[in-house]
Amino acid sequence: MSDGPERPPEERRPDAASEHDAERRKFFRDFSREVVTSAATVINMAGSLQRTSAQAAAAILDPVGGAALLGGLVAETTAPAPVAPSGFRAAFRWNGDRLVLVDQRKLPHVLEEFEVTSASDAAYAIREMIVRGAPAIGQVAAIGLALTANRLRTAGPFARKAAISGAANGLAATRPTAVNLRWAMDRMLARLKDVGEYSEDGNAVADALWGEAERIVGEATEDHGRLATLGAEVLPRVDGRPLQLLTHCNTGPLACGQFGTALGVVQVAFHGGRDLHVWVDETRPYLQGARLTAWELAQAGVPHTVVADVAAASLLAAGRVDAVLVGADRIAANGDTANKLGTYPLALAAAHHGVPFLVCAPLSSVDPATPDGAAIPIEQRSPDEVLRFRGTLVAPEGTEAWNPAFDVTPAGLISAIVTEEGVLRPPFGPAIAAAFEQADSRRPERVTAGGAVDPPRDETAGAAAGAASATDTAG
Ligand code: MRU
Repeated sequence: MSDGPERPPEERRPDAASEHDAERRKFFRDFSREVVTSAATVINMAGSLQRTSAQAAAAILDPVGGAALLGGLVAETTAPAPVAPSGFRAAFRWNGDRLVLVDQRKLPHVLEEFEVTSASDAAYAIREMIVRGAPAIGQVAAIGLALTANRLRTAGPFARKAAISGAANGLAATRPTAVNLRWAMDRMLARLKDVGEYSEDGNAVADALWGEAERIVGEATEDHGRLATLGAEVLPRVDGRPLQLLTHCNTGPLACGQFGTALGVVQVAFHGGRDLHVWVDETRPYLQGARLTAWELAQAGVPHTVVADVAAASLLAAGRVDAVLVGADRIAANGDTANKLGTYPLALAAAHHGVPFLVCAPLSSVDPATPDGAAIPIEQRSPDEVLRFRGTLVAPEGTEAWNPAFDVTPAGLISAIVTEEGVLRPPFGPAIAAAFEQADSRRPERVTAGGAVDPPRDETAGAAAGAASATDTAG
């Protein structure tokens, strides 16, 4: 594994790197342990975990550059030479009064951030793929909506209710396949109902929605940690050689918030001492694998190799893959799973060659209201993503392209669905129903619990209210 493709040799620090390895392993061990065992601190976890994990990780993974990274990205983004960014990165962080996203369109060579101060900013960021990945977009949408509610503290109840509902619907419509988005908006709107949709008390509404967004982020962090740990336990055992895993798209912290799902499993296993290597599908046409997964695995020190998507079947045929691990954008009630385009052919090839195919996803990605894969709406994206490679047209002018962002893998091709409530096995219908029951008994306080941390206070709330209600319904 390389230190980053564009980093000149003189900038590599081998001594520091080996020191980092031990620290890095410890960080991920501690992080996963903290995530898994601190259920009692889930409420209020999001803010503090984000701060501490980002600080600890930046300092540990990049002690020299870490301080500069924490202070913002100015040092890095204004550096004269293009140096591949390094240091632990989650999809977003909280910065006092705004949400700051890593602009994932620019990775892996440029690290820029994008600020979100309202639901309309969040909708823009999701639609434009500044942030992507099913769990991450649900969390960003929830925080964006809470930020808009914060701006509406002094607005009248009817204007406030209209603005919040409109913004929630606009956010939910930005990307139709990933159910986490609709799920997060449903939770936020349920919380709004709970506190009083037409309440005169704008502060209570803003505080309640902020609390719910905090819970959504905190629970996601904990759930991803739980499922990563459970998934690591069921990985195949091999003797005398590294375990060979294959993954598609991107399922690390960039896609999930603070932790990962399929890549979380990889990291928990690797930092728990498993000798392993990951084959990374490049993931045409948007290249989430080559651009983002390879970058995240490099940050985490996990050995990996990028392959063209069409090489996966040959690897499976040659017995060079022990298990395939993917995420999910929506799992139907019967276990049929929508995930990044290319997942279905991978599942077919894995089944043909008798290789376990594991879907790793939180229950927020499972939609009991969608009976099967045929009912999952598939997002269609611009033909340009297929016809152009990094901006350059590669097909004859005027060529048409079909570009569905996701495909559906039938439940029959899936060996197991790894969730925070356990590793589900076929038949998935009853297993999914039981997992939801278990989740409900683990978190009975959901929706009606009060806010846990100080929400942001917008001093200019009155002035901003009108603007927010006008813009946040877009999208
Ligand atoms: O179009 P994207 O990049 O948002 O698609 C992401 C995926 O398909 C991921 O595999 C999925 O969201 C699972 S992320 C844990």
